[in-house]
This record gives sequence, C-alpha cells and structure tokens, in this order.
Amino acid sequence: MNLRDTLYVQDGELFVGKIKATELASRFGTPLYVMDGEYMISVADEMKKGLSAYGDGTVAYASKAFATVATTKLLNSHGLWFDCVSGGELYLLLKAGVNPKHVIAHGNAKTKKEIEEGVTAGIGLFAIDSDSEIDNLDEIAGSRGVKQDVIVRINPLVSAHTYEAVQTSAPNSKFGFDINDGAEDYIRDIISRKNLVFKGLHVHIGSQIFDHSAYDECIEKLADFLAKLSSDGITVEVLDLGGGYGVHYVDEDPSFSAKRYGYTVKNIVTNLSVALEKRGLNKPFVIIEPGRSIVGESGITLYSVTAIKDFPGVKKYVAVDGGMFENPRHALYGSEYSAVVANKADKPFDDKVVIAGKCCESGDIISENVPLQTAQVGDVVAVFTTGAYNYSMASNYNLNAVPPVVLVMGDKAEYIVKPQTYDDLLRNNVVPDFV
Ligand code: LLP
Repeated sequence: MNLRDTLYVQDGELFVGKIKATELASRFGTPLYVMDGEYMISVADEMKKGLSAYGDGTVAYASKAFATVATTKLLNSHGLWFDCVSGGELYLLLKAGVNPKHVIAHGNAKTKKEIEEGVTAGIGLFAIDSDSEIDNLDEIAGSRGVKQDVIVRINPLVSAHTYEAVQTSAPNSKFGFDINDGAEDYIRDIISRKNLVFKGLHVHIGSQIFDHSAYDECIEKLADFLAKLSSDGITVEVLDLGGGYGVHYVDEDPSFSAKRYGYTVKNIVTNLSVALEKRGLNKPFVIIEPGRSIVGESGITLYSVTAIKDFPGVKKYVAVDGGMFENPRHALYGSEYSAVVANKADKPFDDKVVIAGKCCESGDIISENVPLQTAQVGDVVAVFTTGAYNYSMASNYNLNAVPPVVLVMGDKAEYIVKPQTYDDLLRNNVVPDFV
C-alpha cells in the first residue's frame, strides 16, 4: 500500500514522512493527531500553480479547518493568505505573524468586539454578510479614522452535491445576500457609506464538493451579476470564490493527490476567465479559500485499541482511546473514514468493523463499516484524512483531554500543540463565595 510519497507501508508498518506511525504513538502517546507538513505544503503549492493560470490572485487558507501557530507560520512562509471567522482565529493569525492585510474576516454574525478587533488590527478585507454589519463596520471604522475595504457575501443559489450541514448556497441560507434579490441594493448602501470601500464579492457554495458543475454554475451566475453591476457603473476589483474542494475519505473518493487540487483550481479559474471574457469584463483579483483540501489528507489520527466487542454476523466494534471529543464528524454528519492497523499494515483487510470511541454515547462512533486488518487490544489504529475539522472541532466532552498535535516533516516530528493536562481541563473553574 503506497498512498502517497509521505504515507506508505514498509516492512509491515505504516509510515508518515520517514517515521513509523507506531514510533509516533509510543513517543507521543495516543490518541494523537499527526499532521504531515510536506504534503500540506505540496497541496498549497499545487493550488498556487493552478491559480497562476488565471493571473492576479491568491490562495487564502480557511483557518477554521485546522489552525495552529506552527502550521499557520508554515503556510504563511509559502505565501498564503488566510481567512478567519472569529476573534480567536484572528488572534492566532496575528500571533503567527501573518500580515493583517492578508486576512479576510468572514462570518454571518460578527460581533462588535470582533469587528473592532479586525479594524484595529488593520485586516485587509471584511466579507460583509448582514445589514447590521454594514452599520457596525461603518461606525467602528469611522471612530478609528479607517476606510475599511470590504467584499460582500453573495448567495448565488447553487446547490452543490454534499451533505446538508455544509451546503451554504441553498435558498434562505443564513449566509450571503441573495444574488437575485437585494444584493445590489446592499452593495449600493455600502458604496454610500463614508468609511467603507466596496472592493468586490465573495461566494462559498459549500464543502466536500467533487461536482465541478456546481462551480461552473456558480461562475456563470457570478459573471452575469458582475456584468449587471458593471452596466450599473459598479466595479468589482476582488472576487473571492470560497473553497469547498472534496478530499479522499473512503475508497469511492478520488485518491490522495496534491496535483488533483491544482487541476481543480486551474479548472475553476480558467472557466472564470472564459466567462469574464465572454462578457467583455475585466479580470478582478481572485481569491480562492480552501480549508479542508489543504489540511484534510495531511492529517491522520493514531489510536490505541482499548476494547473489542464482536456480535458475530451483526457487527464488531473496535473501540479506541479517542472518540467524538476529538472527531465529532460521524456524530454530526455521518462521515466515514478509512483506516489501517499501523503495526499490521501489510496484512489483508480481512475484517469489517465499527471504530467506536470511549464517550458515554452510542453515537460516539468514528466510522462504520471500515475494512480493517484483524485488530487486537493494544494495536495502533491509524485513521486517515483527519486533518480538517477534527482538531478544530474538538471538545472536552466527558472531560477528555483534546489530543496533542504532532507535525511531521520528513524524519522530524515535534509537538505543535502540547497535550492538555487535567489541570488544563479545570483551569477556568472557579467556586463563588456562596457555595
Ligand atoms: N470559506 C468560507 C467562507 C467557509 O465558510 C468555508 C468553510 C471555507 C471557505 C472552507 O471550506 P472547505 O475548503 O474547508 O470546504 N465542519 C464541516 C465543514 C464546515 C465548513 C465551513 N465553511 C465538516 O467537518 O465537514
């Protein structure tokens, strides 16, 4: 089994970079998030290459997928911009030394505090997503003597084939201004404000999308809208196309390949060029905003098998020392994953199991129907493609510690997020006098 250059099986062992997964497990303990820095960078570089087919533009990494100071520094040093969707994410980006001009603030319900923090930091673009945000941002920018550049989130009403929770472009979505109804009025309102500078548009049609026709449809609608704005005298200098590119989780998905993301981006921006040219429009600066595709396949989670429960002919649970506190995606979306027993990685996948977590809930499952080598208590199980929306969505449910994160680059491996202690779990507990 050779999944890619930096994830492969040799002498019966799974390797990440040049290190055995079992060695990582014994050195850092389990459960453990492992991020493959080399692969992450190769995906980012392929996307940049794909985007260069268009001309002026940038890749802005969607921090919500996975954000740590170390990986932000790494991606920053490779020339990426970043989006953020909370004061916390902005704080992390600034700590990591990101140029605030390369930050885009998203969110359908930004608080005044977050707007103040963003304006004070001098971030490049706010993606406006409500009429109250227009008022708040205008007022806050004015009070600081700032003319704030903004883009406007549009709902292009494109239904992408993915699960409901991550579809963001359905009618009546909480995101964006309806492209057919009202969006232009909001843009005019923004243009009329003293402290806001209208720069362009933002769309994000959803996540874990393989269906290119959804992107094609979105581009056609956007190009029509740009043409309408242009005929009404409104210039769009920046076009943020969002993210959403699907990653490999299970056999039915396209296999691991950094190059595939380069082609996806190239395809999207080439279609955009054609659509603009057809309408005689100038090319705006383009931003693409991938999250999952940059970090998803880079991540694996290592677990120790703690219990096995077999109901012959019905199902077999392989229970591990993790669970929904470090990967809530099956519980939330019914997501599925593939896995191997890291210390038996060259053995046949002769079992089909449910990988279960340790939380006190029946729904605490990592994945169902997982083909796996016959596992025993004490084995190390590696679950693939856990780099996106696992660590970033982790919690302390059942007062389990969020696992540490280790970054692997070739033969190097170090913590980038240290383990939580029991004291960390209680750090903010206080007991008032009246107790
Ligand atoms: N830009 C905006 C404005 C977004 O809302 C998102 C994701 C992205 C970019 C990046 O999308 P990506 O390339 O990662 O698909 N927790 C869910 C995913 C939620 C996605 C939210 N927005 C999951 O685990 O599947």
